[in-house]
Amino acid sequence: MEERALGGTCLNEGCIPSKVLLNSSKIFHYTTDYGKLYGVVCDGSHVEQKTVIERKRRVIDTLVGGVGMAMKANHVEVVNAIGTIAGRNGDTIAVEAEGKTYETKYLIVATGSKASVPPIPGVKEGIASGFVMTNFEALELTELPKRMVVIGGGVIGLELAAYYGVVGCKVDVVEMLPKIAGPIDAEISTLLQKGYEKEGMTFHLGAKVVRVEGDGVVFEKDGKEQKLTCDKVLLAIGRKSVIDTCGIERLGIVTERGAIRVDDQMRTNALNVFAVGDCNGRSMLAHSAYRMGEVAVNTILGRKDRMRYKAIPSVLYTNPEVACVGMSEEQAKEAGIETVSVKLPMAYAGRYVAENEGGNGIAKFIFDKKYRTLIGAHVMSNYSSEFIVACGIMIEQEMTVDAIREIVYPHPSVSEIIREAAFAVKL
Ligand code: NAI
Repeated sequence: MEERALGGTCLNEGCIPSKVLLNSSKIFHYTTDYGKLYGVVCDGSHVEQKTVIERKRRVIDTLVGGVGMAMKANHVEVVNAIGTIAGRNGDTIAVEAEGKTYETKYLIVATGSKASVPPIPGVKEGIASGFVMTNFEALELTELPKRMVVIGGGVIGLELAAYYGVVGCKVDVVEMLPKIAGPIDAEISTLLQKGYEKEGMTFHLGAKVVRVEGDGVVFEKDGKEQKLTCDKVLLAIGRKSVIDTCGIERLGIVTERGAIRVDDQMRTNALNVFAVGDCNGRSMLAHSAYRMGEVAVNTILGRKDRMRYKAIPSVLYTNPEVACVGMSEEQAKEAGIETVSVKLPMAYAGRYVAENEGGNGIAKFIFDKKYRTLIGAHVMSNYSSEFIVACGIMIEQEMTVDAIREIVYPHPSVSEIIREAAFAVKL
């Protein structure tokens, strides 16, 4: 049962549409003065926001259509309506939609998440008037605002700032913590911030938004209030699991810290009821959700499977991209693991130098000293989103540095940084 279009937040108002926008800003970047460094001169270029959004709609339509076809091909009936759990009779769970009752032995809840709306004065009114946007509205704008304030320097805030800040909008990011990009390695987040400052973006760190007014945002920093005037505000301060739309209470399903509690097989406390994706709050990423769905289905089919979280990649699709998998040095220390790390500039990879004029990318690899295995990789570089999976496999398979050294990489490729690190590490 799906109330809206198939594909959820990821496809309709998250991962996919934001990549469409970011791709346009990456292309545009080469038509600015930056492109001249490559011998590409396109004076007077600009971004046609309407065309970008039209293309975004086409991309979404294609992919939503593809999901629909996959459903048909697999004989899955899609009920385009809100599903509500009616109750249980022994082994049978009843779910109602559009006045019809569907009976099932097994139920998978995948209700996702929604943008958190904080009780900051003026935010609710701002959302109602359209002045304050969540990711949804920010991916729908057909006209470029002149000035935008982004509240929250996390993943959504940075990806959308990376688009709007490059295509001609003056962007200020207001972040409560002393650094942007949440748990991402501090050195990498500083380099990323510096890169975007060069593009004209301004970051206000350790800054708490105290109210939103009709024409701007007021924040407090070091005990002083400051106001930023703007045409639009993007609210990106995190997401909340959706747990109140399908009647989980009728089956006595237990929630914890605002999310459905699940075990490693994605089982809730209720017999034969599973919860996958953002609604269980365990790893709020689309790729984690896929895997959780597979684990739940395998468990239903009696196949042995278990959700593991240690090698789930996380990617910031900024320019440059930041991709991480496994532990940071701090996490390893907390877990009592003795580590040996290696940090390399991306310039160690020939293709990176060929394609990134003035690039400041870096890569950090963390190894377990005792077992000589890779336990963490943190990379700021183009293509890192594509090759981080290799590091994830190495971590998941507990590959030793010797085994990693034997792998052959395509040359030249940015991924060769892994090989360089494996030979550079003092292990
Ligand atoms: P987030 O948790 O990544 O970042 C929110 C930021 O807002 C934090 O840095 C926090 O300190 C800050 N903040 C909170 N309250 C604030 C306030 N009052 N004033 C100033 N700053 C404040 O949340 P975000 O960016 O909304 O993303 C939500 C979810 O979406 C994440 O869980 C992420 O996993 C997912 N996502 C993943 C993407 C990816 O994998 N590339 C892309 C976009 C979203």
